[in-house]
This record gives sequence, C-alpha cells and structure tokens, in this order.
Amino acid sequence: MSTIESAAAPESLLAAPDQLTQAAMTQEIIDVHAAAQAREEAGEHVAMTLHDYPPYRSSILRHPTKNLRLVDPETIELFSPAFGQRDVAAIEADLTLQHTGEPQGERITVQGRLLDSWGRPVANQLIEVWQANAAGRYIHQRDQHPAPLDPNFTGAGRMVTNDDGEYKFTTIKPGPYPWKNHVNAWRPAHIHFSVFGPGFTQRIITQMYFPGDPLFALDPIYNSIPRQKDRDRLIGAYNHDLTVPEFSMGYEWDIVVDGPDATWFEPEGEH
Ligand SMILES: [Fe+2]
Repeated sequence: MSTIESAAAPESLLAAPDQLTQAAMTQEIIDVHAAAQAREEAGEHVAMTLHDYPPYRSSILRHPTKNLRLVDPETIELFSPAFGQRDVAAIEADLTLQHTGEPQGERITVQGRLLDSWGRPVANQLIEVWQANAAGRYIHQRDQHPAPLDPNFTGAGRMVTNDDGEYKFTTIKPGPYPWKNHVNAWRPAHIHFSVFGPGFTQRIITQMYFPGDPLFALDPIYNSIPRQKDRDRLIGAYNHDLTVPEFSMGYEWDIVVDGPDATWFEPEGEH
C-alpha cells in the first residue's frame, strides 16, 4: 500500500488486499449480466433480482438459501401494528426542517405514486425514507468515513400516500459514499425507501437513484438486477414541472409493488 493511498483514506476504510479492484468488479458484473441474458435467451426464466449474486459480497451470506414460506396475511395482520393518517405529521415529509438551521446541499422535492401491478393507486400507506447527507455521510456509527456530518440534517422522514397513491417529500440530494465491497467501491447517490403494498405483509425496501450518475456501471447493488429496463425503473426522472421556483429541484419516481412492472426490491441491506 503506497503512502498516497494511506493519505487518501484511513486504513479502516480501505478494502483488504485480497479484495477485487473496481475494474475486476465491473468485469464480474458484465459477466453475470451476460450469463443471465444467455439463460433468458435459452428460454429459462430469470428472476428480476439475482439473489445469489456474488458481486455484492455481503449478500452471499444473507440471501435466502431455502424456498420461501407462504404466510397467511390475515393471521399476520391481526398481530401487526397499523399505521394510520394520524400517526404521521405533515412536517415529517420535509427532511430540511428537522433542526434549527438549513442543511447544506441541493434541496430537492421527490414526488410519485405508489401503484399495484394493475396500475391502481395504493392509498393511505406509510412510506419511509432514509439517506446520506449532501456529503455522502450517514448519521450511523458504522459510517465513519471522513465526510462531514451536517448538524442540520438527520436523513430520515416518512409520509402517507394520499387517496391517489401519491407521496411527496422535500430533502437534500444525497452524495455518493464509499463502502468496503471491493477496492475503491462507491455507491451511486440514492435514497432508501420502505413501502407497504395493499397488504401489511408486503413491506418492501428499495432505493431511488438519480439520472446520469457516473457510478451506475460500477455498482454491484444497482447491477444485481440483470435487465437494464428493470434497473431503469429505479432511477427518478428530473421533472422541471415539479421544480419549485427558487426553492428546489423536482424529481418524479413511481413505485409498483407487484407484478411484471414491479419496482425491484432488495431482500435486505443497509447500503
Ligand atoms: Fe445507502
């Protein structure tokens, strides 16, 4: 390890010497996509998400190794908590108002609809979001990389969809951040979403990305979805009609909770 590399980041942030370079990781991603495409062209069903996906190193021990078990949603829902309109205050949908001062960064508004596979709105459902700050830093004890915390930004909010399945929140555009999947690994900027579908057992977690991010081709998590058309559904669209004059840049992102048009959801993960 050279002195220059040591100066760039604390040792604890550097990947172990036996980890892959980005170039090798990118090639591994390309190879996995090509293999998935070949299987599909041979008539095999290829899932929207590759759960057994070696490029995302920490997922190897977390993904399901046995068949999923069906549960009876009616029984489950008798014992689950229920979120109603009264539980969530309107101010929780503005992540820029949680402290005494304004957070640093590019203010954005994100708006979209929660839909089922028939295109019907999913109304009155809780949506939770969490994200890094503009410098790419989370308020989390495991995130110790040398980017500043923002005393005016926590990075978590929630809202309830309206009768048309619409949600909207105001925040700061998150920055990209490093992680230890491989040498010099960086996540594209993203916002984490937790949503509930029509049933309470349909809690699902996903990430929204931003258009034109140069890190897309490099990121194993984004690329755990084999088809480009499915990956495209994770990218919010810039919409100038949603941009608030002299206030915030507007992005639009619809979430589909099941069926062939479903947004990809991750089985588990914090990155
Ligand atoms: Fe993240």
